[in-house]
Amino acid sequence: MSITLGNKVVLVGTGAVGSSYAYSLMNQGLSDELVLVDLNEGKAQGDVMDLDHGIVYAPSSMMIRYGSYEDCKDAAIVVICAGAAQKPGETRLDLVNKNVKIFESIVGEIMKSGFDGIFIVATNPVDILTYATRKFSGLPKERVIGSGTVLDTARFRHFLGKEFGTAPTSVHGYIIGEHGDSQLPVWSSANISGTPVAPKLSEGRKSEIAEQVRDAAYRIIEMKGATYYGIAMGLARITKAILRNEHVVLPVGAMLEGEYGEEDVYIGVPCVIHRKGIEKVIELSLNDVEKEKFTASVQTLKDIQGQVWG
Ligand code: LAC
Repeated sequence: MSITLGNKVVLVGTGAVGSSYAYSLMNQGLSDELVLVDLNEGKAQGDVMDLDHGIVYAPSSMMIRYGSYEDCKDAAIVVICAGAAQKPGETRLDLVNKNVKIFESIVGEIMKSGFDGIFIVATNPVDILTYATRKFSGLPKERVIGSGTVLDTARFRHFLGKEFGTAPTSVHGYIIGEHGDSQLPVWSSANISGTPVAPKLSEGRKSEIAEQVRDAAYRIIEMKGATYYGIAMGLARITKAILRNEHVVLPVGAMLEGEYGEEDVYIGVPCVIHRKGIEKVIELSLNDVEKEKFTASVQTLKDIQGQVWG
């Protein structure tokens, strides 16, 4: 891959998640060019104007405009937030057939432009749709990245930070697996400044925290109809890691080809992220319970893959 020069980002889908991501990108000064693509041109054009009027107060300038799939040709990153959104009481996996069809069309149009950069996928069920994006685009696995458990891990660190009175940035621990009900916390390696947290928590408290993380989206959707700020910050974090060539470890959706003893599945695992996408998958050492749960999470996704693609 010839690294696509510049840091142009094309955002496909300017609903609540997409427009929050655009706002995060502007506020963090991560890109000098952002193109918004959406079937609802009026909404997207409105977002362009609304964002433009805030640029003067942003850390750096950013050219923002409404565009089309052709604009993906020289994009460094295309972020896909388009698709049907989760409704109250609906699981992420309920969305799968609707959104796979939408993705086949979107990814096909993007690839027609000659796009040769990196995909970041956010639309749910994100693990399945990241797998679909890799399938429909034909790009190498390292350049098709799902948001994976980047938000679940943020939630995990948030709740543990509150539990132990530290900033979430001082909590080191991961949620891995499906971005969904079969996800799992890796308690065996969760720590604060190297001190394991699990021994300080009862089994009941650990279950409560794991459920708070797993069910966070359902609760937020019940309260305000959708989630968008947390995921937007996660997408911006992945974008920054790529554009700044950070080699930072983030829990994103990656294709496993032997790691954790699994293959042919996109799932949330810690990965080293750099300018060319995923540099490598980090294999956490899992205890027997965690291994069992991770295998079950992989199977959940493979069952859906089997239903969609046979
Ligand atoms: C959530 C959505 C992004 O977990 O699935 O908030």
